[in-house]
Amino acid sequence: MTQTGSQQEPQMDSQPEIQETEQEATPQPKSFPCIKFVKEDKEVFAADGANLRLKALENQIDLYTLMGKMMNCGGYGQCGTCIVEISEGMENLSPRTDVENRKLKKKPETYRLACQTLVHGAVSVVTKPSK
Ligand code: FES
Repeated sequence: MTQTGSQQEPQMDSQPEIQETEQEATPQPKSFPCIKFVKEDKEVFAADGANLRLKALENQIDLYTLMGKMMNCGGYGQCGTCIVEISEGMENLSPRTDVENRKLKKKPETYRLACQTLVHGAVSVVTKPSK
């Protein structure tokens, strides 16, 4: 009966394993996507998967026209007033939702509803596009 104490085998050559553990413990730099608001000339960083509308509002970016200010749906994809144009980085956003496909049917492919859009990488955003 030799099952007293630890069941792990003694590690005679533990030096390399310790080095691996130390390397794994080193924090890896996380990616914080940069959102550039073109008209406002402002760049903000966001966590991966951040909601574009919320990041804009948190950073005092004015997404809404006068009508949108008075009648927006609060981010539920119902009013279509949080419309933005993505001038760069479309590939770094979540795909268009069904709501967006309905609301933006006659708009260019570069248009998104900010409240329906999640940011996963660098992107440039034009608020209140004129088309
Ligand atoms: S806030 Fe209403 S659709 Fe985005």
